[in-house]
Amino acid sequence: MLPRKPLFYSSYTTNQHHHRRHHHCLGFVGSLIILIFLFPTLTDADCNHDDKDSLLSFAANFSSLNWSANVDCCSWDGITCDKRRDRVVRLSVPGRGLRGFIPFSLLNLTSLSFLDLSYNFLSGPLPDGLFSSLNKLHTVDLSYNTFSGNLSETLPGSLKLFNLSSNHFSGTVEKTIFKSLQSLVAFNISNNSFTGLIPPSLCTSSPALVFLDFSLNDLTGNIPQGFSACSNLRVLSLGFNNLTGELPSDINGARSLQQLSLPGNSLTGEIDENITDLTNLTSLVLFGNMFTGSIPRNIGRLSLLEKLELHINKLNGTLPLSLMNCTKLQLLNLRVNSLGDRLSDFDFSNFIRLTILDLGENRFTGVLPKSLFSCKSLIAIRLATNGLEGEILPDIRELTSLSFLSLSNNTFRNISQALDILSSHKTLTTLIISKNFFNETLPAAGISGFQDLKVIGMGGCKLFGQVPIWLMSLTNLQLIDFSQNNISGIIPGWLQTLQNLFYLDLSNNSLSGGFPIELTRLPALASQQHLDQVNNTNFELPVFVAPQNASYLQYNYPAAIHPSLYLSSNNLSGDIPVEIGNMQSIHVLDLSQNHFSGTIPDSISNLTNLEKLYLSHNLLSGEIPSSLKSLHFLSSFDVAYNNLQGLIPTGGQFNTFIDQSYEGNPGLCGPPIQKSCNKQSNSSLPSPSSHKKDPDVIMILGPILGFCFGFGIILTFQTYSILSKRRILPRWIHRYFIWT
Ligand SMILES: *[C@@H]1O[C@H](CO)[C@@H](O)[C@H](O)[C@H]1NC(C)=O
Ligand SMILES: *[C@@H]1O[C@H](CO)[C@@H](O)[C@H](O)[C@H]1NC(C)=O
Ligand SMILES: *[C@@H]1O[C@H](CO)[C@@H](O)[C@H](O)[C@H]1NC(C)=O
Ligand SMILES: *[C@@H]1O[C@H](CO)[C@@H](O)[C@H](O)[C@H]1NC(C)=O
Ligand SMILES: *[C@@H]1O[C@H](CO)[C@@H](O)[C@H](O)[C@H]1NC(C)=O
Ligand SMILES: *[C@@H]1O[C@H](CO)[C@@H](O)[C@H](O)[C@H]1NC(C)=O
Ligand SMILES: *[C@@H]1O[C@H](CO)[C@@H](O)[C@H](O)[C@H]1NC(C)=O
Ligand SMILES: *[C@@H]1O[C@H](CO)[C@@H](O)[C@H](O)[C@H]1NC(C)=O
Repeated sequence: MLPRKPLFYSSYTTNQHHHRRHHHCLGFVGSLIILIFLFPTLTDADCNHDDKDSLLSFAANFSSLNWSANVDCCSWDGITCDKRRDRVVRLSVPGRGLRGFIPFSLLNLTSLSFLDLSYNFLSGPLPDGLFSSLNKLHTVDLSYNTFSGNLSETLPGSLKLFNLSSNHFSGTVEKTIFKSLQSLVAFNISNNSFTGLIPPSLCTSSPALVFLDFSLNDLTGNIPQGFSACSNLRVLSLGFNNLTGELPSDINGARSLQQLSLPGNSLTGEIDENITDLTNLTSLVLFGNMFTGSIPRNIGRLSLLEKLELHINKLNGTLPLSLMNCTKLQLLNLRVNSLGDRLSDFDFSNFIRLTILDLGENRFTGVLPKSLFSCKSLIAIRLATNGLEGEILPDIRELTSLSFLSLSNNTFRNISQALDILSSHKTLTTLIISKNFFNETLPAAGISGFQDLKVIGMGGCKLFGQVPIWLMSLTNLQLIDFSQNNISGIIPGWLQTLQNLFYLDLSNNSLSGGFPIELTRLPALASQQHLDQVNNTNFELPVFVAPQNASYLQYNYPAAIHPSLYLSSNNLSGDIPVEIGNMQSIHVLDLSQNHFSGTIPDSISNLTNLEKLYLSHNLLSGEIPSSLKSLHFLSSFDVAYNNLQGLIPTGGQFNTFIDQSYEGNPGLCGPPIQKSCNKQSNSSLPSPSSHKKDPDVIMILGPILGFCFGFGIILTFQTYSILSKRRILPRWIHRYFIWT
């Protein structure tokens, strides 16, 4: 369910279908046709009979292989013979919908050198003796199937390209299968379930290796030494395993290395200075480990580097000055480390190709460096959660491609100026400046522009003022987070003019007045059809929604975020309007901690997508409408501390809610709370069997929450482990989101 593994890959082989060219003169063709007409069986004279039989028996298992027995097998689609048109040397049937096991008849094609069965639905273990029978193979591509079983046979000495990636293979990868593979260029077993250690000294038995990919398995232990023999290795990919220990000290022996990719392991120790010997590196990807120490001082020796991803480690120190010599950098991600010092001490001006810069969650201080504004290619910048200060300067307008800007959780000042400058930025789509500008006043007027803005996050700034009218001109807005401010006045009805708005968080403010009926007509919340039409391009950088805890929920595109209305912790009063039943596409409705009175409208049962309904700490009275039990996706329900009365509904999701959902309502009775209804209620007695104790609740709620949160949300591997344990999420998690 959770996409731990990338979904799309390209494979080595180009999957060309080779069509044999015929160079015959017309007369010859003519007589051939006559011959065919007279002696139809003669046409297969060129094709080896045993191979033909083997292929026909192979094809008998797969309806999509419509090879005709009446035609020379050398001209069958996907088949190539050797020069003498004798033996079959190539079987290439990628993406042909083949389903089932590999038939044993394949083993008779003993001259086969090229085997491509990729992108099919083949399953089961590989037939015994596959590699000893087909000992002339130089290319094996079985990627993108569902093969299982172990890899135990010694591989044929002729092997050049070997790709088992994206299957269900398991077991260990023993050194013995690599006996002597002098020509092996590419070995790819990525995205399987292999366990055990990485075999040592692979380049000693296979000195020609160029591509080595063990990523996305369950391999353990250290990365073995032996890289000085890897003189041809260009790509080493060992990411997303359970590897431990330090980087091998002879890694700098693999001088041809262009891509070193070891993310998502538990590697420790320092990133040794000797890594800067790998001067042909274009991509160094070490994120999601436990590396300590500082970024190598001489990292600038890697002058071809385009991608440097060291995020989510324990690196300290500062940005080495030599980094500015990496003038080809396009992506620099150092998020979640302990890097520090004044950011303006570093000269960014050489990074003319930099498109993505993420320095979030570090300890950088000082003002925004002016040199950053000369990186004209920048599309996305995150500097959130650092110790940065000062004002947003007009120079930021020089970043004419900037689309994503997250500066949250620093101490920037002067929001009027910041909005004034940023609003003229034509390309900006995501602006997150939460937790800055403390206690300033939100400008009421004078802001125009922001014509492409989709996401605005200004939560936790303790801003004074009212919901500003200039929001009305930001017609592309999809998400507004103004939570945790001091915003007063009413919730304006004109918000309904924002055609694409599907997430509005005004919680934790000082808003008063009633629930504006106009809000129930917000087009993207009132109609699923409208919501589906909302432009949904990826964020340039993922957005993190941190309920106090950073980096847990990660969203890669807006539609992964649930349509929501958060109005909790304000001074809102009056009835909850029946029209609330219009908000057909809403998933989360939070009206808690206000002064709403009257009854819970029955019409809420029309909100069939509702997953979370929070009405606690209000002045609501009457009964809980029993129609709410028709809300099949409702996984969280909280009406505590109101004046509700009567029988708690049973059945449906109501059998899963815990008693704390109802506390502080003296008039409520029936399961799951202890108080029985015998006296007050004339309705039928609830059945005692519907009472669930907490452990069951957790078992039922857990998977539901897992589903709801997992759906559409790309989770970091950290989150993966949290949710896969199916922990019940704490009660505060639905409130006080801060976007970073
Ligand atoms: C290995 O195969 C996967 C596809 O399953 C592909 O994405 C990856 O790039 C390949 N590795 C190398 C080093 O080519
Ligand atoms: C076999 O099927 C393919 C497509 O499915 C078609 O292009 C080809 O002409 C067919 N060949 C024969 C001999 O029917
Ligand atoms: C580095 O790359 C260059 C250019 O592709 C190549 O000529 C050189 O041999 C490479 N160096 C090593 C050590 O492979
Ligand atoms: C950048 O590279 C130049 C030329 O190779 C070198 O002279 C300079 O010292 C380097 N700068 C830093 C800060 O390493
Ligand atoms: C804000 O930054 C502080 C440290 O500066 C950190 O402790 C806190 O978790 C951050 N808050 C969020 C919401 O990221
Ligand atoms: C914010 O910046 C503007 C324009 O530079 C300036 O006029 C104003 O005084 C500043 N406000 C504060 C509170 O510093
Ligand atoms: C943040 O997450 C950690 C680990 O899951 C947890 O122990 C801690 O209580 C959380 N912090 C807050 C403020 O809830
Ligand atoms: C639910 O919606 C339907 C039509 O959309 C309407 O007829 C019905 O009255 C609504 N139910 C409630 C309880 O509001």
